[in-house]
Amino acid sequence: MAATERVAPADRITMSTIPQGIGLGLRVDMAQAFLEAKPDDVAFVEVHPENYVARGGRYRQNLARAQDLYPVLTHGLTTCFGQLEPFDATYLAQLKRFLADVDTPWHSDHLCFGGAGGAFAHDLLPIPFTDEALDTVTQRFTEVRDAIDRELAFENVSYYAPMSADPLDEARFCVEVLERADAKLMLDVNNVFVNSRNFGFDPKAWIDLVPPERVVQMHVAGHLVRDDGLRIDTHGEPIPEGVYELLDYTLRRTGPRPVLLERDNNIPSLGELLAEVRRLNAIYRDAVGEEAA
Ligand SMILES: [Fe+2]
Repeated sequence: MAATERVAPADRITMSTIPQGIGLGLRVDMAQAFLEAKPDDVAFVEVHPENYVARGGRYRQNLARAQDLYPVLTHGLTTCFGQLEPFDATYLAQLKRFLADVDTPWHSDHLCFGGAGGAFAHDLLPIPFTDEALDTVTQRFTEVRDAIDRELAFENVSYYAPMSADPLDEARFCVEVLERADAKLMLDVNNVFVNSRNFGFDPKAWIDLVPPERVVQMHVAGHLVRDDGLRIDTHGEPIPEGVYELLDYTLRRTGPRPVLLERDNNIPSLGELLAEVRRLNAIYRDAVGEEAA
């Protein structure tokens, strides 16, 4: 379907129940304890399709149990929209079936590239904020959305080398992609915060540039602060105060949106994770109103 013929996103998204509140990433290290505890504080789970497509065993069993208990949202790692190589058509067909299976209201992946020339970087690498990149990203994003026939969002990434004289150009570039591709945003609040500290800008000014109606979901996480002050987006530390505060600011602009706590490394006890979820729930309720949480 061409971009101009698309069904209104709002009509498509209401096909499924949109979770409101705080979610957790279903990770193999915590899945068993989490699925046994079935905590009420958690509103949804998020999964990486790459862990399930063409795969059985424990991952699939955990997912089936999670589907019985919670709404499931999906977030990809390998269908990056800044990539130049052709997408794998077989994988996109499998992805489409998987997304239909879990009935996610939208899928998301990253505004970055993950490799070049056949080499896979195992990292999310930033793209330049140029007109050429804008054309590429818009076309690639549209191609994936058409292939999965489902609403699609891109996520802003963290990066460590200056990509522009004005770091707010990243937000302006995101807005251009949102408008040109009629896209949705998976707003990673921690990535905005990490970049703001590394490149010296006001993260709220970044958030202010984003049209709130384009945001479908948010991510929050902790990050490492090195001795030299550089912040690294590890998803391996507790959420710092600055990220909690920026989430509060962002939710007050967007209204209720599902917020995922990303913890992928140094995964603590379920009790510690749920303590962070409870703090996030309190911020969420305070920012968007009691009835929405
Ligand atoms: Fe994220």
